[in-house]
Amino acid sequence: MKLRWRIVLSIGAALALIEGVLGLAYYAELQRFLLDHSAQSLRAQAKPVVDRYMRQLEATGQPLATVARPLARDLTSRETGALVLDRSGRPLAFGKFLPEEPAPVVPDPALVERALAGANELYRVLQDPTGPQLVAYVPLRVPVGSSNIVGVAQLNRGLGEAESTLARVRWLLGLTFAATLGAGAVLALLLGHHIALPLERLADTCRAIAAGSWGRRSELPHGRDEVGQLARSFDGMVQRLEQLIAAQQRFAADAGHQLKTPLAALRGHVELLRRGLIGEPDRVRASYETMQELVDRMSRMVRKLTILSNLDAGVPAQRADTDLVAVARAVLRDFGPAASGLRLEVVARDGARALVDPAQLYEALGNLVDNAIRHTPPGGAITVEVEPGRVRVRDTGPGIPPDRLTRIFDRFYRYPPTGDGAGLGLAIVQSIVRANGGTVHVASEPGRGAVFTLEFPTPQ
Ligand SMILES: Nc1ncnc2c1ncn2[C@@H]1O[C@H](COP(=O)(O)OP(=O)(O)OP(=O)(O)O)[C@@H](O)[C@H]1O
Ligand SMILES: [Mg+2]
Repeated sequence: MKLRWRIVLSIGAALALIEGVLGLAYYAELQRFLLDHSAQSLRAQAKPVVDRYMRQLEATGQPLATVARPLARDLTSRETGALVLDRSGRPLAFGKFLPEEPAPVVPDPALVERALAGANELYRVLQDPTGPQLVAYVPLRVPVGSSNIVGVAQLNRGLGEAESTLARVRWLLGLTFAATLGAGAVLALLLGHHIALPLERLADTCRAIAAGSWGRRSELPHGRDEVGQLARSFDGMVQRLEQLIAAQQRFAADAGHQLKTPLAALRGHVELLRRGLIGEPDRVRASYETMQELVDRMSRMVRKLTILSNLDAGVPAQRADTDLVAVARAVLRDFGPAASGLRLEVVARDGARALVDPAQLYEALGNLVDNAIRHTPPGGAITVEVEPGRVRVRDTGPGIPPDRLTRIFDRFYRYPPTGDGAGLGLAIVQSIVRANGGTVHVASEPGRGAVFTLEFPTPQ
């Protein structure tokens, strides 16, 4: 069953139960009160009459039978019927005289017996051909108030007034019940809609995403309530997954494409060696060296593609308050052996720090210094200038022609295209700089070297 209908049914059932139990309890209490009240007023009306006759019996010492008729007559009125019974429960007299006066109801022997045993506040509703009758019993005591019971007076009155009050109450209770249930159902429907709609939308989105529509989002407002939080987390998760999958797809495509050529060359060498088509030891050695270079190049390429893929996937930078000078020195120290015939130098200002991931900064600077070393002819110089929030790599190589300046950060762009680089170094630099909230800028005049400037936020 759909969630919204389950909510409507549960709320409806709970409301019906509460309303039903409360309504019945209220009705029963009211009914008891009304009957109590009517019985009491019946007795109160009868009391002075009964007392008067009982005093008379006490004074004259006559038996009850002598006053039974006038007593029953005096107890009878337009609303009240009366019957006087003797000590053994036999009817002695009834009071109906006029046609419009109610007849006494047939006495209930069990009740009469209890009244004769002294029960003072006895009443019941008895069914009578004229309708339900409230019947009250009054023990007749001589002397008044004593325990000597000489008979019992039975009074009866139609339940018309109490019944019509109760009928009105029943009608009102029914109306309240229906109105509450109706309003509850409408509220439950609204509530069910409010709760179920976002879930249904989310389920739609999940189905669409499972079918490959990675661009789909929850389309729910990112409010502060639970649904908003769910929508925000869900959309964030999908975006992240989309990013990760795109990075992986790109990695697979790039690696497949870029490794094709060196792998083909490698296979060529292996084939020639296997068939023994290269005979001379010098050429065999040269072939092994070429194969070694190809393997090195491929591992460098895979390493760089992995770094780029991680950056594409949005692996967060571990940004920290970093000593830029220390990182610059570490890079030059590690690249020193590859830079024979070049002067490597760090020009630094004290306290040059930035908020940056130190390992990523090392990687970026390594790529810039690697490029500078490869493009600077022997006798030249490579200088890393460090200031707060800024690192510059300056070389004295041939520089970069203006028409290439805009393209050198592109993935796989390299010049000349036959060089052994992969064209990924500067793309990595740019991704790292972005991941650390910084910028990269290149300036170069052909023939006068190139300057790459990295800028990062500084710690407060
Ligand atoms: N300091 C520089 N001086 C002159 N040219 C440069 C310099 N740095 C980069 N370039 C040019 O920019 C191109 C792209 O550089 P990038 O570092 O992205 O690739 P790469 O060095 O060719 O290969 P990889 O770094 O992946 O091994 C280089 O091929 C080169 O032509
Ligand atoms: Mg490079």
